[in-house]
Amino acid sequence: MENKADIGLIGLGVMGSNLALNIAEKGHRVAVFNRTTSRTDAFYGQAGSLRERIVPCHTIEALAEAIRPPRPVIVMVQAGQAVDGQIALLRSVLSARDIVVDAGNANFRDTMRRFAELKDSGLTFIGMGVSGGEEGARHGPSIMVGGTEESWRRVEDVLTAISAKYEGEPCAAWLGTDGAGHFVKTIHNGIEYADMQMIAEIYGMLRDGLGLSAKEIAPVFAGWNRGRLNSYLIEITATVLAADDPGTGSPVVDIILDRAGQKGTGKWSVIEAQTLGVPATAIEAAVAARVLSAMKGERTAAEAVFGVPATRLAGGRKALLADLELALFAGKIAAYAQGFAVMDAASKEFGWNLPLPTIAKIWRAGCIIRSQFLGRIAEAFGTSDSAANLLMAPAFVEMMKEAHPSLRRIVAQAVEAGLPVPALSSALAYFDSYRQGRGTSNLIQAQRDFFGAHGFERVDAEGAFHGPWGSGG
Ligand code: 6PG
Repeated sequence: MENKADIGLIGLGVMGSNLALNIAEKGHRVAVFNRTTSRTDAFYGQAGSLRERIVPCHTIEALAEAIRPPRPVIVMVQAGQAVDGQIALLRSVLSARDIVVDAGNANFRDTMRRFAELKDSGLTFIGMGVSGGEEGARHGPSIMVGGTEESWRRVEDVLTAISAKYEGEPCAAWLGTDGAGHFVKTIHNGIEYADMQMIAEIYGMLRDGLGLSAKEIAPVFAGWNRGRLNSYLIEITATVLAADDPGTGSPVVDIILDRAGQKGTGKWSVIEAQTLGVPATAIEAAVAARVLSAMKGERTAAEAVFGVPATRLAGGRKALLADLELALFAGKIAAYAQGFAVMDAASKEFGWNLPLPTIAKIWRAGCIIRSQFLGRIAEAFGTSDSAANLLMAPAFVEMMKEAHPSLRRIVAQAVEAGLPVPALSSALAYFDSYRQGRGTSNLIQAQRDFFGAHGFERVDAEGAFHGPWGSGG
């Protein structure tokens, strides 16, 4: 019995191989299987001293046989149909109380379906969000788990052992039933899109508005990484901007085509935000910006027609840089407020009881959006009277009061100069709308009532009313 593996893993691609090595390195025995047998052999052959805790399996039956029951098996294959294929395979060899763990970037609606489908078979399903890329998988990712609490208890030891640690605390947690883990991972990615887009917009202002070279911009980000913006994404931005292309000697960023890819998680987070009725404008803008970036041909044609804006940003460089830093910070606060608001709404909708402070905590290390800033968010949501929206948490009120004037100046300057700042300007518009006690939708209501007799509420009386539009309405 002692020789049985603690856990199994299917799919020895980049992420799967690294996770398996991480598991073995942390002292757990892992049985591995890959559809292409030669890959299993190659992986085992290269595992060095970790081989003693790796059980290479050539058949799915052998994999099932190698694990200590109840048997958890991590499936790390491409999200979508491949996961259903692996589940069907596993159903033929696993038995009651065994656990299928999908560690890919699944759509949480698929996870909920799979969870329900497996219930009848006696097997349980875990949807597990894993963030941190290749490095994270190998040395410590952030792990977001959704499933039954019982199944989490079975895998908790292995998952906390392999996860990143923030000041000793593991960045792995059980967040709720069925789709909770994959939903949280999706919103993590939505926030990641917003973070990246806003950084890119600031880069655009430095490049096109101030005329700085990549080499000159790199230290700006490196400097910001020592301050309030300190985060993995700012750190890698500085590193990337400083790198040269070995072939041409030019900065690598200057030879990369300005056409961004996407695999779907950003889009899903926006779709779910809309479905839940939660404004996530900065994330929406970031997803749309990627789509627009891909329309390279059309953009080039439009530039030929409309011309390139020639305006440079006004003001002294020092003051501008200080404003840009604070503007990015204000935009970041708004984007995170939106992401957490979406999770809060989903938690209520799906009955997950998502622990928002825990989510912020397990994002402090290991994942792509990792930063100390998330510690502030954990504190803000950790108090008994925590605010409905992050923007209203006392510490964030103070931060936003300090930072939003800079965001306003930067967005105004960008608009004036013709430099696109869709995510930053959406973040600002969200803030301005959120803090406007008397908005303008009274007019929308009047219009709706005029053409559709939808009725409206009055400020001075209870009930539903219609306007004096007569037969015109
Ligand atoms: C992570 C990343 C990772 C990956 C996504 C985003 O948390 O480790 O989010 O999951 O980078 O696939 O990818 P796209 O930008 O391709 O949508």
